Amino acid sequence: MREAGPDGLASRLMESGALTSDWLPAYQAVPRELFVPDLMWPGRTEGVGQADAVDRREDPDAWFHAVYSDVSLTTQWDDGRHSGTTKGKVPTCSNSQPSMVFSMLAALDVPPETKVLEVGTGTGWNAALLSERVGSQNVTSVELDPENAMGARQRIHDAGYRPRLVVGDGADGFREGAPYDRVLVTASVTEVPRELVAQTRTGGVIVAPYATTYGSGAVARLIVQRDGTASGRFVGSSAFMRLRQQRRAWKNVREYLGGQPWPADGVKSSTVLSPEAVGDWLPMFAIGLQTLGVFPWAERYADGTYTLWLRDTDVTSWATVDYEPGRTEYDVYQSGPRELWSEVEAAYWWWDARGCPGFERFGLTVDAENGAHTPWLDSPDKRLPIVG
Ligand SMILES: C[S@@+](CC[C@H](N)C(=O)[O-])C[C@H]1O[C@@H](n2cnc3c(N)ncnc32)[C@H](O)[C@@H]1O
Repeated sequence: MREAGPDGLASRLMESGALTSDWLPAYQAVPRELFVPDLMWPGRTEGVGQADAVDRREDPDAWFHAVYSDVSLTTQWDDGRHSGTTKGKVPTCSNSQPSMVFSMLAALDVPPETKVLEVGTGTGWNAALLSERVGSQNVTSVELDPENAMGARQRIHDAGYRPRLVVGDGADGFREGAPYDRVLVTASVTEVPRELVAQTRTGGVIVAPYATTYGSGAVARLIVQRDGTASGRFVGSSAFMRLRQQRRAWKNVREYLGGQPWPADGVKSSTVLSPEAVGDWLPMFAIGLQTLGVFPWAERYADGTYTLWLRDTDVTSWATVDYEPGRTEYDVYQSGPRELWSEVEAAYWWWDARGCPGFERFGLTVDAENGAHTPWLDSPDKRLPIVG
């Protein structure tokens, strides 16, 4: 077995390419263990979600092992309303997965003395790493949650750094410190806040995990242009907790059925496209870029079958597709002004017809003036079709 601890994790991260040699000194100077509270819930190495709580005071070996594993460590649930050692409903703060932290820092491209704004101080690890790299005087980090901000401040100061730490809404950036050369967002966005584009200097870089309403996500690396837009490619997949204001609570399926039992007024048809095909992270991303306000949910049954539900954020339309292993044709019901399965199917086939392009072939242009987000494939002039 490989050595556990900072060196073991460093060599794994370097082998994978996430940790580049120029970031190694910062990694070594800013040990992750200084930024992880005693009680936390490690992400699973296989699959999704969090494992059971690990408490340093009760099991220091397990805690140390988790800290030097390439997993995210959840440190807060339900915006702090949940306490105790059980898991809450929604993870709302974490010390992010090290491979994600360092690949985002590499994408940010931060020469010494660069002026950086971070959104989402969280546990403070990123802000300290950036401070080590460019000097505390060049780092501003904004955190919305006062409790997270307080914990981060203590840890950052204990580690010997003094960046500017702001408690507030990171979507507003921090004007007093603008313009920034680099902006790093460490919570996912469905819309890149316009203020962040406006507060980045021309030629500056914004790195932000971009999550579509459909569910999947990838890290956007945008360069701010002379005309005030920010444009660039995605650099790899991501799965981040969302910026607090951009989280959505979906209405229950009952609200879509208008009090009637399923399939209510749904119009029946069939499809040869398996619901399994539209459930993988990459096609989900391609579908999410092409559809507006559509989100999926799988209602799973004990026998391995499930119903894929599609709903729209405006609560006007729904669709279901019944999945059974071994079938080649699936029943579809659609209701409302939008035919949501037809939209998802069209988006999937568009992606398939182009050879199933990966995350890195997609890009995004954000117009700070009107807030428009325009996804593209290969180059900004090749806009994606918006179906529906
Ligand atoms: C994944 S954690 C960030 C990890 C952090 N960079 C670190 O090094 O530990 C996401 C953080 O974003 C914060 N957050 C969510 N919405 C925010 C907003 N609008 N402005 C600033 N921070 C926000 C959350 O409270 C949480 O602490």
